[in-house]
Amino acid sequence: MRLSVIGCGYLGAVHAAAMASIGHDVVGIDVDERKIASLAQGEAPFFEPGLPEILAEGIASGRLRFTTDMAEAQGADVHFIGVGTPQQKDGYAADMTYVNAAVDSLIPYLRPGDVVAGKSTVPVGTAAGLAERVTLTGATLVWNPEFLREGFAVKDTVDPDRLVAGVPEGEEGERAADVLREVYHPAVAKGTPFIVTDYATAELVKVAANAFLATKISFINAMAEIAEVTGADVTQLADAIGHDARIGRRFLGAGIGFGGGCLPKDIRAFSARAEELGRGESVAFLREVDAINLRRRERAAQLVVEAFDGNVFKKNITVLGAAFKPHSDDIRDSPALDVAVRLHGLGAWVTVTDPEALGNAARMHPQLNYVADRDEALRGADGVIVVTEWDEYRRELDPAHAASLATGRVVVDGRNCLDATAWRAAGWTYYGMGRP
Ligand code: UGA
Repeated sequence: MRLSVIGCGYLGAVHAAAMASIGHDVVGIDVDERKIASLAQGEAPFFEPGLPEILAEGIASGRLRFTTDMAEAQGADVHFIGVGTPQQKDGYAADMTYVNAAVDSLIPYLRPGDVVAGKSTVPVGTAAGLAERVTLTGATLVWNPEFLREGFAVKDTVDPDRLVAGVPEGEEGERAADVLREVYHPAVAKGTPFIVTDYATAELVKVAANAFLATKISFINAMAEIAEVTGADVTQLADAIGHDARIGRRFLGAGIGFGGGCLPKDIRAFSARAEELGRGESVAFLREVDAINLRRRERAAQLVVEAFDGNVFKKNITVLGAAFKPHSDDIRDSPALDVAVRLHGLGAWVTVTDPEALGNAARMHPQLNYVADRDEALRGADGVIVVTEWDEYRRELDPAHAASLATGRVVVDGRNCLDATAWRAAGWTYYGMGRP
């Protein structure tokens, strides 16, 4: 099939390359000339495992190309909208500028029978509004939310847990759902659940899923706060409740909390939308989820301060991690960098290292010291804090080796990812988040 993908960021670039990898003829379109130039040469503009390979393969096969010219969308059977919906600068709601601009500029090139598939995370009610404009061209709008996780984006796109298609009523909707089944043919053939809904349900599925994940993380972080005043160990607590299949252990990792380009802004946009709909109280708990999450960043910085008897002024603190999570170079709303900036604000000399995110971090927070080599970053440290659980820190960093480089023996485990016993045995004073 011929596909266009409008918006070539984390979502769209992966979607375009992944669709080419399953045999479609794909054009990726973005207004950012630099991004398009880099993608057109097969270079991923961000770190995502597996993406460079499928980009190169798609371009070499002739099935994948990139352009800034929207006219190139003409002739595609399905047009995916994958532009960003960031938090508004002056509020909690989603900024819909890019979605509206993408649809406006696509409309002149739509033909009757085309399918426009929205993938961006949008406030519920958006698709119904956009459909009015799209329908005038004879094309059909479907809402096809994306559930990919950064770091696993290629796998999640080609082989998702489920596919959701929000379609209009009647034959038109049924036909559009069939078109999407054809797009995702390998996943559909292997029996991946394909759920057909109305627009509002499809839009809500996405925000509800992210709200649930955020709530799960904040729940366990709230337990960490209680553990801190009772001497309990939140990691054991998570293991124990996680054995209950109804609860499950995943996303019960207590620590400095969630960040990134999705969870934080999505729960805020959901609250804002619920308020507009007169149902603010239904998701009022998301404000609490947000507040618990932000408190954990503060708590991590406080743990470092406490470890130095209340004062980190002129202490050399090495921060292991900058990305909002491992396998990513994304620093949008990164709790890791937030903690680093807080410590810097308290007068510590902060050195940050990360396997992938240093370039992005240095552009955003030039006031911090960045060292690419992990061991170099650890040399002379009075204290160490792990804020992104990369294998380089979690599995591969031998505490005795770290002790041979650092000056001090304080380690704060902001992700509860280190072997506390091994670090203590190597002479470190170990502080976890919600564990003794
Ligand atoms: C999230 C969702 O997981 C995806 O399903 C969704 O498609 C995506 O947002 C999106 O809306 O596009 P992502 O932002 O890539 O994906 O990251 P997650 O793996 O969900 O992690 C989010 C944050 O939660 C990270 O900062 C991570 O460190 C933190 N986290 C995760 C915890 O603090 N504890 C945990 O137990 C798990």
